[in-house]
Amino acid sequence: MLVRDGKIVSIGPISRVEEHSEANKAEKIDVGGRVVLPGFVDSHTHLIHAATRAEEYELKIRGASYEEIARKGGGILNSVRKLRAATTTELKYRALTTLKEFAGYGTTTVEAKSGYGLDVASELKILFLQRDLAAEQPIEIVSTFLGAHVTPAEYRSRSNGAARYVDLVVDHMLPEIVNEHLAEFCDVFCDRGAFTRGQARRVLSEAKLHGLTPRLHAEQLTRTGATRLAVELGAASCDHLEQINRADILALAKSRTVATLLPGCDFHLGWKHYAPARKLIEAGAIVALATDYNPGTSPTVSMPMILSLACTQLRMTPAEAIAAATINAAYALNRAARLGSLETGKQADFAVFEVEDYREIPYYFGMNLCWMTVKDGEIIYMKD
Ligand code: NIG
Ligand code: FE
Repeated sequence: MLVRDGKIVSIGPISRVEEHSEANKAEKIDVGGRVVLPGFVDSHTHLIHAATRAEEYELKIRGASYEEIARKGGGILNSVRKLRAATTTELKYRALTTLKEFAGYGTTTVEAKSGYGLDVASELKILFLQRDLAAEQPIEIVSTFLGAHVTPAEYRSRSNGAARYVDLVVDHMLPEIVNEHLAEFCDVFCDRGAFTRGQARRVLSEAKLHGLTPRLHAEQLTRTGATRLAVELGAASCDHLEQINRADILALAKSRTVATLLPGCDFHLGWKHYAPARKLIEAGAIVALATDYNPGTSPTVSMPMILSLACTQLRMTPAEAIAAATINAAYALNRAARLGSLETGKQADFAVFEVEDYREIPYYFGMNLCWMTVKDGEIIYMKD
C-alpha cells in the first residue's frame, strides 16, 4: 500500500505498488507479514458518560433484570445523575482515555451519541465535548443527538411527562443543536420503558426537517414496529433488532437502512436471544456490527470481541463480520466513499493484526492482537 497525504495512492501486490513513480522515495514500513484490515468503524457508541454501572452488573448477576433496575430509577437514569454531576474536565479525561483504547483495538472512527444529559444544558455539554474531542485527538468522531433516550426523572412525576419531554427535545434541544452544527444524526430509543413509535416519529421527522439523518434503537426489548418506522423515514440505520419478525427483515432487505447488530449487549446482559443475523444477510439486508460501548449494556471498546461474538453467536462468517465492522458500518455513517475499505483514493485508515490469517482475528477471543493502528496516514497506536 502506498500512502500520500493520508490517502491510498496504490494498493495490491508489492510488484504493482513498487511500479508507482512515487514508490522508491516513500518511507517504508514493513509489517512483517501480519494481516492488514481497514480500521474498524464503530457506528454505535455512547462514548460520553461519567462512570461505570458495576453496581448494577452485580444486581443483574443476582437475578434483577435490566428493565427492573431501570424502573427503580437505575439504568440510564443512574448514568444521567452521574453525568449531570460531572464536570466537562472529568468527562473529557474519561473519554480521551477511552478513545486511546479504541485505537488500541484497531478502531479509527466512532459514532458517539449524547443521551445521558437529558436536559438542554447537559445534552449540549456532551455534544460540545464531542466536538472538542474530534478536533483534539486522531479518532474521527461522528456525532448523534440522542435527547430522546428516556424520559428524565423530573418529567416522570408530571402528567403527560414523556410527551412534555418530547416537546423539550423538539422545541428547545434540536434547534440549538442544529444552530451550533453539533450533530449529523438524530437517534431515538424506541422501546418499552423508553419512547413510543409515535414519539419517535415526531422527534425524527423534526430532526429530518432540520437536516439531521435519523437512526433508531429498535426492537431490543420488545417488538414495537420501530424497524418499519426507520425504513419509512429513510433512517441510516436501525440498531439492536433482537425482536424483529419476518416482515421487518423483508422491509430492511428492500431498503438502504442498515441493520446494525450489537451482540455485546446480549453477551453482557447474559441474554441468549441474539438478533437473526443469518436471516437478515440471506434476505439481502445490509448488516453492520458495532460495540454499543456504554456503561449499562455493553462496556467494551473491542471490535475484535464483537467479531468473535458475531461469528460464534450470530453465525456470521469471519469475512461477513469484518465487512459488517468496516465498509457496512462506514455506509451506516454516510462515509462509505471515504472510509471502510482499502482502495485507491480512500483514506489510509487501517489496523495491523499479529496473525497469519484474517480468520484468527475473531477466532481468538478476549485477546488483543492489534499491533498497529493508522488513521489518515498517521500511526496512532503501536503495540509496546
Ligand atoms: O444501546 N438501549 C438503549 N441504550 C443503550 C443502553 C443505555 C444504558 O443502559 O445506559 C443501548 O443498549
Ligand atoms: Fe445504544
